[in-house]
Parts: sequence; C-alpha cells; structure tokens
Amino acid sequence: MIRSSVFKDESTLFPEYVPPLLPHREKQLEHLMRIYRPLFSDKLVSVNSALVGQAGLGKTATSKLFGQKIEEMARQSGSKIIFEYMYCSTVRTLPAVLRQIIMKNWKKVPVMGITGNELIIELNDRLRRENTRLIIALDDAKLLGGEAIHGLIRSAEYFGYGNALVSTLIISRPEDWVAHLYPHLIEDVHSVIEFLRYTEQELQEILAYRASLSFYEGVLSRENCNMVAKIASETGNARHGIEILRHAGYLAEKSEDKKITPEMIRIAKNEVYPETSPEILRGLHRHELIAALSTATALKYEVAVPIHKAYEQYRIVCEEYQTSPRSTRNFRNYIRVLADIGLFNAVVKNLKRGRRTVITLTDIPASILEERARKLLEQGGKDNYD
Ligand SMILES: Nc1ncnc2c1ncn2[C@@H]1O[C@H](COP(=O)(O)OP(=O)(O)OP(=O)(O)O)[C@@H](O)[C@H]1O
Ligand SMILES: [Mg+2]
Repeated sequence: MIRSSVFKDESTLFPEYVPPLLPHREKQLEHLMRIYRPLFSDKLVSVNSALVGQAGLGKTATSKLFGQKIEEMARQSGSKIIFEYMYCSTVRTLPAVLRQIIMKNWKKVPVMGITGNELIIELNDRLRRENTRLIIALDDAKLLGGEAIHGLIRSAEYFGYGNALVSTLIISRPEDWVAHLYPHLIEDVHSVIEFLRYTEQELQEILAYRASLSFYEGVLSRENCNMVAKIASETGNARHGIEILRHAGYLAEKSEDKKITPEMIRIAKNEVYPETSPEILRGLHRHELIAALSTATALKYEVAVPIHKAYEQYRIVCEEYQTSPRSTRNFRNYIRVLADIGLFNAVVKNLKRGRRTVITLTDIPASILEERARKLLEQGGKDNYD
C-alpha cells in the first residue's frame, strides 16, 4: 500500500470507529456510570435506561465507550459484567438477539433448536451459574419494538424479584422513542438521557480532536477546521463534520500540496448526507439491499414511483446480480423495512381503481443511495446478506 501523506490513520474517520474520548459527552458518560452503579452491589436489580437524540449526536459512540468503561471497571473491582452491543437493524428479533449473545459468550451451548422463552431461561441460567451480569445495548431499538423490549426487561425477573441479571440500554431517535418505544416502556425505563445538538463551538473542539487522530499535522488548519464546524453546526450533527473531513481528506490526497483547502471543504460538503447513518445500509439483508438499490434507480428521474414499477426494476437488478427475485409480497416487506429505517416513505394512495403504494425518498439523493448500495452488494460477495 502506498503511504498516505494526508492520513495518519484514515480508519479513525470510518463510522464504526469509537474514539477513546468524546468531548462534550463526558456528562452523559458519567451519568450512565452512575445509573448502572447498582450492578456493582450485591442486590440483583435490573437497570434500564435510554439514550434519546437526533442523528449524529454521539449516542452510539457514547454507548460503546460506556460499555468499554463499565467492563473495565468490573474487571478492576472483581465483579463480572458483560456489555453486549446490538444494532437492531441487523439483529431484528429478540430471539436473534439472545441467540447471538449466548453463542458469543458460551460457544458450546446449542441454540439453534431452542426458541423464545427457552433462550431467556438458558441465558439467565448461564449468567447465574457464572455470577455474571449482562447489559444489552439495543441501538436503533425501534426495529426490535417496544413490546419485545418490555418482554425482555420483564423476563429479567425470571428468578423472582430482586434476582435480575439482565439490564438494558435502549438507544433511539426521539420520534421513534415517542411513537414506538416509550408507550411500552413507561414502567421499565427509569432514566432517559437526552442528547442535544452540538453547538458550533462544541463542534470546533470535537472536529479538531478527530482531525488530530486522523490527519498529519499541517494538513488541516484551525481556520479550515472551524469552517467544517460551521457547516456541521447547521445540523448540530458530529457525523456531518466527520464525513466532510474524510471526503476533504481524499481530495487533499489527490492534490499537489496534500493540504485541505476551503474549496475542498465546499466540494466535500456536497457529498455527505448527515441524516442517513452509513451503518444503516450495512444492516440490510441481500434482497433488501437489492430492493433499496432498484427503488433508488427507479427514483432517479421521478419524484415518486408506484411499488409495482420499483418491483420491475428489482427483477432487473436481481438478474444483474444473478439471484432469483423474490415474490411481490416479499418485495413489499423489503420496502416496509426500508421505510422503517427511514430511507424511503411508502404512502398508500386511494385511487378510483383501488389502493396503490407509492414510494418516495427521504433524505439521501437517489444516485448516492444507489452507489452506496451497489458498493455494499459488491463487497458482500454472493450470499453474505442472505
Ligand atoms: N463528542 C464527540 N466527540 C468525538 N466524536 C464524536 C462525538 N460525538 C459523535 N462523534 C462521532 O460522530 C459520529 C456520529 O456519532 P454516533 O454514531 O454516535 O451518532 P448517533 O447519535 O448514534 O447517530 P444516529 O442516530 O444517526 O445513529 C461518529 O463517528 C462518532 O464517533
Ligand atoms: Mg447511532
């Protein structure tokens, strides 16, 4: 690999990277440590809290850093605490969540045949035998649903009141929290930590820190970093700024001077879509990804497409990827999932000749969605997403 003269470590700008510090989220981290402190006492209680806030405000990053810290603290104090992070756009049902946790921690336990309640019993038995407590972080929890999470929290008392070994940390955007989660969890969740938009000043500090992790000195001046912070302050979203840094870095790499200029920042600004987390596409199954790709293609020159038109395009794309198309019914389900994660709107229109579903895009331009989906399909090989 050719050594970069811009990036000291490009991977620190990738979405999955969790920095060791989160400036301006210290309070939330501390608050979390305080809330979950009862897990270090002898009394077996279940602690359940929620992180609620708009896109790119550090909910995912804070939860992962909290997980590292609490596991570390447990190691130091001789307590056993396991923190498991689950991204619910990938793991979408409670049995799948439980199965994954059991398989990861107790590889020899056969879990394929057993279902729902048996998985809960198995998990609790394991935890009790090993005197271990578990915190499950459920990110983008809407896809799992309030009812399922309520069931999980209630089952924590499987061994009776005061014997709970399972705790949860629920992560969600405010609109999903209000509409899909809170109504089921009113009695379960005791603390809600709200994440507010970052101010321009906070973003200046955050982005300067992130730039210092990823770029060589001299690549990004303080002034230009502040220009990025100003753009990102329109959304108050840290991801917005970080994505601009990454794209501007690529442009600088191709330039003579190997420095980020204001013009590069202006160009990069037009290439990022801060409301759509890039991780979201990564959670999709292969046919959902193909459905996203084909609907985006159908929407490139239209404001809205009827679902049967999108399905026609889906069949063509399936052929291109040498996979057999699923039924229209399946396709409708894929579109429902894609609407649930906020990529599309699916609206049912009442026409004279019956009802018809029409799809429109939400935030991201069709061509960008198309490109991202294609990239993932190509990376994912043949069946990784099935
Ligand atoms: N205070 C911070 N300091 C440094 N980096 C941050 C901070 N807050 C967020 N980030 C970075 O910004 C990006 C977005 O943060 P994160 O993924 O945690 O947002 P989120 O609130 O989970 O958004 P979404 O609702 O879209 O999932 C990540 O790359 C994260 O590392
Ligand atoms: Mg997140």
